[in-house]
Amino acid sequence: MRFLIIGDIVGSSGLKKLKVEYQKLVEEYKIDFSIVNGENSANGKGLRMQEYNEIIDLGVDAITMGNHIYYRKEMAEQYSKLPRLLIPSNITNLIGNGSIIVEKQGKKIGVINIIGRVGMGEIAESHISSPFQAAKNEVEKLTENLVDYIFVDFHAEATAEKIAMGYYLENSVNCVFGTHTHVQTSDETILDSGMAYITDVGMTGPKGSVLGLKKELALKRFLTGEYVKYECSQNEAMLSGIFVEIDDTTKRAIKIERINR
Ligand SMILES: [Fe+2]
Ligand SMILES: [Fe+2]
Repeated sequence: MRFLIIGDIVGSSGLKKLKVEYQKLVEEYKIDFSIVNGENSANGKGLRMQEYNEIIDLGVDAITMGNHIYYRKEMAEQYSKLPRLLIPSNITNLIGNGSIIVEKQGKKIGVINIIGRVGMGEIAESHISSPFQAAKNEVEKLTENLVDYIFVDFHAEATAEKIAMGYYLENSVNCVFGTHTHVQTSDETILDSGMAYITDVGMTGPKGSVLGLKKELALKRFLTGEYVKYECSQNEAMLSGIFVEIDDTTKRAIKIERINR
């Protein structure tokens, strides 16, 4: 089965880029199943119903989130109701789907969303439980439901925490991919167990920005130390993601390839 994963959609320019490229990528890579991280799609901060619908209407199978779930208070009640939306399983003070199962082409695909604990300063540590324990619990739940494939979006800052998660899950899932840093890493690999791994898939957001933020504002923040209100850059966007192919018989990854548009 052939999978497309696209990194954090940032603002309207990121969403526009996704709309331009999505169908082309699906055709080029003959994609069967897709996952998009949407945590910055609403003007850089979270996701609203509008963005959820726009992304799902493209044909995307699952939307994962991250630390920005707190910015759209009106969405808190929706998180558990939207069948294709995940929020990190180990966030302790919001209710939503930490994993979902989607049936496609006679196969059951499980998707898990977990958030890291290292360097996630915006969220109180007390609101994040162990990502490793949460991942294990979600894997057990999906395995009991006899899923054919499991993909894990580990939304985290620290490379060490992400790499450790890869090894922790290598014998129980098909792919662990990182999101959140908005910078794609070049360490995509297939581990000995046959699991595909990359530390970060990168962002789909404005070029010439600082992780999506207007560069002038980011510089002001660093140069003066003053609080600067977040404003999403409106520059034309780039798209970052990966393509993963899993052998249907052995369930081992055959290919993991970085995508940049
Ligand atoms: Fe992000
Ligand atoms: Fe994030």
